[in-house]
Amino acid sequence: MKTVLKTLAALAGLTLAGGCTTEGDVSGRALFTDNCAVCHGRKADGNGPLADKLEIRPANLSELALNNGGVFPADDTIAKVHGYSNSDHFADMPEFGSVFTGPEVMWETADGARIPTTQNMVSLVRYLESLQVSE
Ligand code: HEC
Repeated sequence: MKTVLKTLAALAGLTLAGGCTTEGDVSGRALFTDNCAVCHGRKADGNGPLADKLEIRPANLSELALNNGGVFPADDTIAKVHGYSNSDHFADMPEFGSVFTGPEVMWETADGARIPTTQNMVSLVRYLESLQVSE
């Protein structure tokens, strides 16, 4: 399965890349599957294969919108992932760096602030948004 996903990601990267390195163009789904699903689960429900082995249980990321009055907290999620990247949160996940590589973009927050992040981060968060449950 993982190989299939990697192959799909590579194909998607080739289609989008148009001469750039493929690394900067991996889809949000591939980024999530490779970097987050082991703890948070493929459906982002907090039940990844590593979940039971961690001291702190991974958050259920499919309920971020539900817990925020039905609005997906994209700004907050990006800020948290940026913050975690500097902590032990990802100690076991060296390849997590791919979220922070590739072309940079300016993300405009709901209150109009502009924060620099990567296109990969935006793709990842958009994918996470698509996994939100409504109840
Ligand atoms: C090694 C396991 C692990 C991996 C890999 C991991 N997480 Fe987490 N994550 C956790 C744990 C554990 C928590 C809960 C931390 C806490 O409560 O302090 C958490 C919390 C979070 C939160 C905060 C949720 C909230 O309700 O505030 C976000 C957002 C998050 N993770 C996003 C991600 C993303 C995106 C990825 C992949 C790029 C990822 N995590 C990869 C273990 C992991």
